[in-house]
Amino acid sequence: MLKDNDKVSTKTAYLILDGTTYELPVIVGSENEHAIDIRNLRQESGHITYDPGYGNTGSCDSAITFVNGEEGALHYRGYPIEEIAKNGSFIETAWLLIFGELPTKGQRQRFRKLLTENELLHEDLRHHFEGFPSNGHPMAILSAVVNSMGCYDPDLLDIETKQEFVLASAKVISKVRTIAAWAYRKSKGLPFMYPDPELSYCKNFLHMMFSEPYRLYEPSPEEVRALSLFFTLHADHEQNCSCSTVRMVQSTEANLFASVSAGICALWGRLHGGANSAVIHMLEDIRDGKEDIKGYLEKVKRKETRLMGFGHRIYKSFDPRARILQQAAHDLLDAKGSDDELLEIAMELSQEAQSDEYFTSRSLYPNVDFYSGIILRSLNIPVDMFPVMFAIGRMPGWIAHWYEAHKSGVDKIHRPRQIYVGERRRPYVLFDERNGK
Ligand code: ACO
Repeated sequence: MLKDNDKVSTKTAYLILDGTTYELPVIVGSENEHAIDIRNLRQESGHITYDPGYGNTGSCDSAITFVNGEEGALHYRGYPIEEIAKNGSFIETAWLLIFGELPTKGQRQRFRKLLTENELLHEDLRHHFEGFPSNGHPMAILSAVVNSMGCYDPDLLDIETKQEFVLASAKVISKVRTIAAWAYRKSKGLPFMYPDPELSYCKNFLHMMFSEPYRLYEPSPEEVRALSLFFTLHADHEQNCSCSTVRMVQSTEANLFASVSAGICALWGRLHGGANSAVIHMLEDIRDGKEDIKGYLEKVKRKETRLMGFGHRIYKSFDPRARILQQAAHDLLDAKGSDDELLEIAMELSQEAQSDEYFTSRSLYPNVDFYSGIILRSLNIPVDMFPVMFAIGRMPGWIAHWYEAHKSGVDKIHRPRQIYVGERRRPYVLFDERNGK
């Protein structure tokens, strides 16, 4: 059954199975993407579709982000990422993604105020950090504490009004940076720095990370801008693994805190949000002589390892975020009057790979993670915190998707099917009759 907002194309797909022809409607998105609607296929034909990894499966319709992997285009709510990166800020981007339009001056001011009012953690929540070992990974701490936030706001576990949603999303976006900074402080045995309501979102985060009770940390405007850009470029990327996780958890009508906490867990893996730290480890190995560029690429081609920060499920030309971040890394280093050997190695590695048939024939190009770590290193963010930084940036996207699914009220619980390839039905073997030790 098509929903009211689905556009039906004039095309129809036909599937012939055992002599029976099934008509499958074709739906079309606003950027002219076409999809064969198989919603009724199993009911009508007894067959399901098989698509491990969901590379050809549209799991929902969404009006938030558009990606054209062939052309290297990324739009948030219709605005090209290049224009957002040039003119916007992370907070504006968060509003745009969640509510669909660029904020007016009044909306931006009120949203900033709401974020400031909600930047503190409940003092009891602060004590959670004491229970974690000092070498606990900050992603584990982040997902656990974000999920725990729901315990301190039970009224927001069941969101019914837009006002409740705005408050819940402001709490998550604001507090996630406090939680992230405190996870770092805990790992270093440093005192927690409370947020400063006078500071902007990014400056406040850097303050909680690096100020001391006796010395305030003063980042340069270029550093603050680079951080805002980093968060902005990570803010959403449609149905990637962590976003789909958030939507899947939401489909059970789970609350916002639990759903985005699940997104953090999904992001942690080295093929997703963990790739930015894997890139730095790879570049360090090359710098330290454990690998050389040609030898490393040969290992990749023998499939002993992957070229981290390269390749993307959707982008088959370039990832526009990688281009922007590459330039931003150079700009930041220039502004600081410093250089980073790892950026030189990254450039050389990228050039070498892009002139190698193995990579070009598979359309493997740098992705968002290839250069982002250079910026984070330059901001003194430790490598363990890289996926956490990604999670802070991605929070508005997860929230926007959670809300879109929540509001639509028509999405079914997500429940893929499978092709069972295990044992056929067999009688139960009683304990005394089993052979072997
Ligand atoms: N290095 C070397 N070979 C690669 C790479 C890579 N980074 N990525 C894909 N390939 C090869 C595969 O080995 C495969 O080769 P084959 O056809 O000879 O078997 C072919 O390219 C297709 O690869 P798939 O795994 O089918 O591509 P998929 O779309 O599933 O993977 C992924 C996408 C996971 C991002 C992959 O490119 C990868 O592992 N990249 C490295 C990790 C990374 O940078 N992740 C961050 C992604 S962006 C993000 O999450 C923000």
